[in-house]
Amino acid sequence: MQPIVELKNVTKEFYGVPALRDVSFDLAPGEVHALLGENGAGKSTLTKIMAGVHEVTTGELLVDGKVESFKTPAEALQKGIAMVFQETSLVPSLTVAQNLYLGNEKFLNRLRGIYISAQQFLQSLNFGVDPTMFVSQLGAAQKQMVEIARAVHHKAKVIIFDEPTATLTPEEKHHFFSLIRRLKSDGVSIIFISHALEEALAISDRITILRDGQHVITDDVKKFDRDKIINAMVGRTLSGELYGKAGDKRAPRPYGQKILSVQNLSMGKMVRNTSFSIYSGQITGIFGLIGSGRTETAKIISGVVKRDFFHGGEVKLEGRSVRYRVPRKAVKDGIVYVTEDRKLEGFFETKSIAENIYLNLLAADLNKGLTVSYSEMMELARHWTEKLNVRAINNSARVVELSGGNQQKVVIARSLVQRPKLIIFDEPTRGVDVGAIAELHHVINQLADSGLAVVVISSYLPEVLNLADRILVSRQGRVVEEFSMEDATEEKIMYAAVH
Ligand SMILES: Nc1ncnc2c1ncn2[C@@H]1O[C@H](COP(=O)(O)OP(=O)(O)OP(=O)(O)O)[C@@H](O)[C@H]1O
Ligand SMILES: [Mg+2]
Repeated sequence: MQPIVELKNVTKEFYGVPALRDVSFDLAPGEVHALLGENGAGKSTLTKIMAGVHEVTTGELLVDGKVESFKTPAEALQKGIAMVFQETSLVPSLTVAQNLYLGNEKFLNRLRGIYISAQQFLQSLNFGVDPTMFVSQLGAAQKQMVEIARAVHHKAKVIIFDEPTATLTPEEKHHFFSLIRRLKSDGVSIIFISHALEEALAISDRITILRDGQHVITDDVKKFDRDKIINAMVGRTLSGELYGKAGDKRAPRPYGQKILSVQNLSMGKMVRNTSFSIYSGQITGIFGLIGSGRTETAKIISGVVKRDFFHGGEVKLEGRSVRYRVPRKAVKDGIVYVTEDRKLEGFFETKSIAENIYLNLLAADLNKGLTVSYSEMMELARHWTEKLNVRAINNSARVVELSGGNQQKVVIARSLVQRPKLIIFDEPTRGVDVGAIAELHHVINQLADSGLAVVVISSYLPEVLNLADRILVSRQGRVVEEFSMEDATEEKIMYAAVH
C-alpha cells in the first residue's frame, strides 16, 4: 500500500546543527503510528515537517506519493494534514468556540450559531469544555481538549497528536482513546507522540523510535514490550532503575522542622477547608485526581493566586502567618512553586537558557542588591544544565527552541537557583522522558537530603510511591488522608483518592 505521508532520508538542521539525521518514516493509510524517543530525540521536529512548520534541510517529504514542500501549516492543512501541538497554539483572548472556527471568518461572526454548534461538537467528543469561555480561563487539560477538537473539526485525513494525553485525567484519556479508534475506523491516519509507553503499546499499530535525531527501529506493535522500547530509546536497559523493585523500599527520611502549616484553608470550589503540615528534610507527596484542589492549594501558598480569591483559613511559614499576593514575596521568604504549566506560567521564551536562569536568581536576590557578571551567569547556567542534563545546542539557545521536555528542565533549574526552603513541584516529570525522569528524581531526592522541605504533587502513583517519605491524599479540595512510606500501597492510596 502506498504510504499517505512519507519522509525519505530527511535531515533537518537548526543553525547548522542536525536535529534529524537521514531519517526515513512512513505513515500507512488508516494506521495509528506511535512515535517515541527521549526528550530532544526529534519527534516534534519530524512531525512539524509534515505539518508545514519546518522545511527539510535535505531529503524529501511525500504526500500520496507526490513530493511536497509546505511553507506554512495552512498549506499542510489544505493537503489534509493537521497537527495538535505540544505547545498550545490557541488564541487566549478568544473564546473556545472562536478558536474552533478560527480561519472560517464568515462563520466566526455569527456568534450564537458557533456557540451552539461548538457545544454540540465538543459534546460529541465527550469533552467537558464550555465553548463561551475564553481560552485564557481554561486549565491545561481543557486547552488540550480544545486543541484536539480543532484538529478533528478540520476533517483532516492525517492527524498528528504531539503528547495529547499529558494533562488529561484517566477518564478524559479514556474518551480520547475512543476518539482515536473512531477516527481510525473513519480512515484517518494518526501519528501519536507520547512518553506514556503503555499508551503507545495499547493504541498503536506500529511504533517508530528515534534516538538523538536518528531512526532506530520501526516495527509492528506486537514486536514490542516496555523494556524493548526503553532499550531502543536510551540505548541501554533502564527498567528497575526507575521505580525500584517492589519490596526493596528505602527507609523514609525522618521529620525535620515544621516549615509550613496550612489550617482550614478554603478558596472557591477548588479548596475546601484543607489542613496539613510540611516538614524540612523530607519529601511530601501529594496525590489526588486532577481537579482535587492540589494545584490551587499550592498556588495560594506560593502567592501565584491573588489574595482577592482567598476565602479563609491560615498559612503559617515557620510559625508566622503569611498571605502572599505575588510569587516574588513568597520566593523572598523561601517558598518556590514549580509550575505544571510550562507554557502559560513559564518563562521568557525568546531569551536564552542562561538568561532565564539568571533572571530568576535576580528575582530572588533583588533586595540584596546582587549583581552577577556575564561569565558568572554562563557558569551558573552550565552548572544547572549539566546537573539536569538539559539538551540544547548550547546555553545561548533560546528557550523557545528547546524540545518540550527540556523546557520543563529549564523551569526546574530556574527555580533551584532561588535557593528555597520549601519547593513545591507540580507534576515535575510530565512530558519528561524515562531517562530524564530518573535524573529529575535524583535531583529531587538530593534536595530533600540537603535539608529542604520538598513537596511533589503528582497524578502518577508510581512516582509518588517512589519519591515520597509521606503521602497526603487530596480529594475534592482537601487533604483527606496521610500515609507513611511504610504503609502506603497503591490500593490504599487509590481508595482514599476516589472514595
Ligand atoms: N526551532 C528550533 N530551533 C533550534 N533548535 C531546535 C528547534 N526546534 C527543535 N530544536 C532542537 O532539535 C532537537 C529535537 O527537538 P524536538 O523538539 O524535535 O524533540 P522531541 O523529541 O519532540 O522532544 P520532547 O519529548 O522533549 O518534546 C532538540 O535538540 C531541540 O533543541
Ligand atoms: Mg516534542
